Amino acid sequence: MSYEQAYQASLSDPESYWAEQARALSWFKAPEQLLGKTDHGTYNWFSDGELNISYLALDVQIAEGRGDQVALYYDSPVTQTKAAITYTALLQQVELFAGAMQRLGVTQGDRVVIYMPMIPEAAVAMLACARIGAVHSVVFGGFAANELAIRIDDAEPKLILTASCGIEFDKTLAYKPLVDKAIELAAHKPAYTIVCQRPRLQAELNPSRDLDWYEFQEGAQPAAAVPVKGSDPLYILYTSGTTGQPKGIVRDTGGYAVALKYALQHVYGMQAGDVWWGASDIGWVVGHSFIVYGPLMGGCSSIFYEGKPVRTPDAGAFWRLISEYRVNSMFCAPTAYRAVRKEDPQGDLAKQYDLSSLRWIFVAGEKLDSSTYQWLSELLSVPVLDHWWQTESGWPMTAPIMGWPDPSPARSGSTNKAIPGYDIRVLDGEGHEMPANEAGNICIKLPLPPGFAWSIWNNAERFKQAYLTSFPGYYHTGDGGYKDDDDYIYITGRTDDVINVSGHRLSTGEMEEVVSAHPQVAECAVIGVTDALKGQLPVALVVLKADADISDAELEAQLVHQVREQVGAVACFHRAIVVARLPKTRSGKILRAVLRKIAANEHYAMPSTIDDASILPEVEQALAAAGFIETTVNNDE
Ligand code: COA
Ligand code: AMP
Repeated sequence: MSYEQAYQASLSDPESYWAEQARALSWFKAPEQLLGKTDHGTYNWFSDGELNISYLALDVQIAEGRGDQVALYYDSPVTQTKAAITYTALLQQVELFAGAMQRLGVTQGDRVVIYMPMIPEAAVAMLACARIGAVHSVVFGGFAANELAIRIDDAEPKLILTASCGIEFDKTLAYKPLVDKAIELAAHKPAYTIVCQRPRLQAELNPSRDLDWYEFQEGAQPAAAVPVKGSDPLYILYTSGTTGQPKGIVRDTGGYAVALKYALQHVYGMQAGDVWWGASDIGWVVGHSFIVYGPLMGGCSSIFYEGKPVRTPDAGAFWRLISEYRVNSMFCAPTAYRAVRKEDPQGDLAKQYDLSSLRWIFVAGEKLDSSTYQWLSELLSVPVLDHWWQTESGWPMTAPIMGWPDPSPARSGSTNKAIPGYDIRVLDGEGHEMPANEAGNICIKLPLPPGFAWSIWNNAERFKQAYLTSFPGYYHTGDGGYKDDDDYIYITGRTDDVINVSGHRLSTGEMEEVVSAHPQVAECAVIGVTDALKGQLPVALVVLKADADISDAELEAQLVHQVREQVGAVACFHRAIVVARLPKTRSGKILRAVLRKIAANEHYAMPSTIDDASILPEVEQALAAAGFIETTVNNDE
């Protein structure tokens, strides 16, 4: 079947198309219900099927003869540690950890928050939760205690799983005090915190609440995989929305398992026995889908890397891993390659390694600039494949498709064509489809394919409001872009107040809440300015109160400190600029869309609703004076 045939089949008869893909899984009970409707009017898949994703990722692989194959290669230049964990060994660890959690009273549907660095124990924890039907929620280590507390209150976990520390380059970051502070801040109190003590730093344990990772497992009975329903949640993953309250994206089990198995083969071109590297972190969706569940369900060896592309110990880190583990394909965000290129512009370090195992590499998470694309393509001599997805989708939405006789070749600037199951349309503000080559809102015509989220934890209504209301009958991705004459998709950027810093999705609204809480700040807008290395960086435009008495430098230092404390280091918030006024509509709303355009150095049309048109040039001048934009004459007037 050609890509075109598969794509058309997936849209004209989604149920038959995905029923066929679902047959590739070992279900405990095959689903009879294919595409279903939820109580709140969204779609789900395979709701009455019974399965267990930890069973598919481990037991099934062993039954198929891969027990002695490496499931996870742990490589940690920051601790000088390496480990090769076979499928059999991983299963034993997962069974025991799952049994120990059961002994503490964790049962199906209970939530478990995981706040851990990239150590194999974190993967064991995720798979162990899945094994007993507990719903994990991994929180990225770069988020501050306050952010963790918000997630604890929303997910109401029975347990928190953590480690004594994370290691960032040569810095040891104590995690446990952060977890303690988060529990103190949160209204919900988890019953236990399980702490993995790392040799670098021993955390102090509170005897009434904290348990040692390995002691708590002693004498536990290995747990069998619990059959869960296809529609049962596997995990909650919080992602940034436009407000300070992150969205707890709920991932179901059945549709997700089908989608991952499909994507590993047809998008990433991986076969059982291949070595795959998702160079990201378990705190992001990529880590869930393509460090842990996907590659293991596909019988691959997956790399678990605790390091960075640079300075661990040098900018050859990625090339060393590819060569040492004979990596066949990998994924990472373009920012990582930009960091490598900055340190090693000629790619001399890459030339020191045998990279012949590599077939192609994938990038996503943020825009791939053409210069990085060129540099990488020439350096590696393998296809560099841009593709596009988001936390909500859980797996790629556009990508070149492997495994068909005629995969769609890459096109510069495009994230390629829609994957089967995704009916992607570009709509104007009124919901009319845009002609080819004209930009609009990127939307997906319902129903969504398997694996795509269909709810927000504890707030199905917010899912509908956030994604399904602006364009009835469509899912609104929040991205802008266009299609060319041949249906290649081009993503131009977010159309909301979400920014992308080093491939990390962040909410400017969240940072604005912290900035505007400063006693001398009257109002503010946080915008993303273009950055050559990180893609975007947040900058606050701040209006002071009339009686404010603080120097600009002091204010900036205090705001930087506050955002780091409240949101976390991952926000990369380093700049605040004082301006006299912010541009607003006559009804008093800050004109964020125009600010976004100014920050991106793009032309904008003077909004007809603007209250005072002279404010925009003032803002442009302030940004230009601070070196964030090049020109002050962007408007079309
Ligand atoms: N735990 C604690 N702190 C963390 C952290 C973690 N897991 N990850 C990042 N941080 C901290 C960093 O130490 C840094 O702190 P600092 O301000 O004290 O220096 C801050 O958060 C910003 O981190 P980052 O923007 O990641 O910069 P970096 O210099 O540490 O690394 C890259 C730069 C490019 C190597 C890194 O951002 C990267 O690999 N990005 C790819 C992201 C990705 O895979 N995204 C997946 C989405 S598809
Ligand atoms: P996240 O939910 O953290 O995975 O972030 C998803 C967002 O990252 C998308 O909505 C896009 O804005 C952006 N993104 C992901 N992949 C790409 C890509 N290949 N090109 C441009 N932007 C991307």
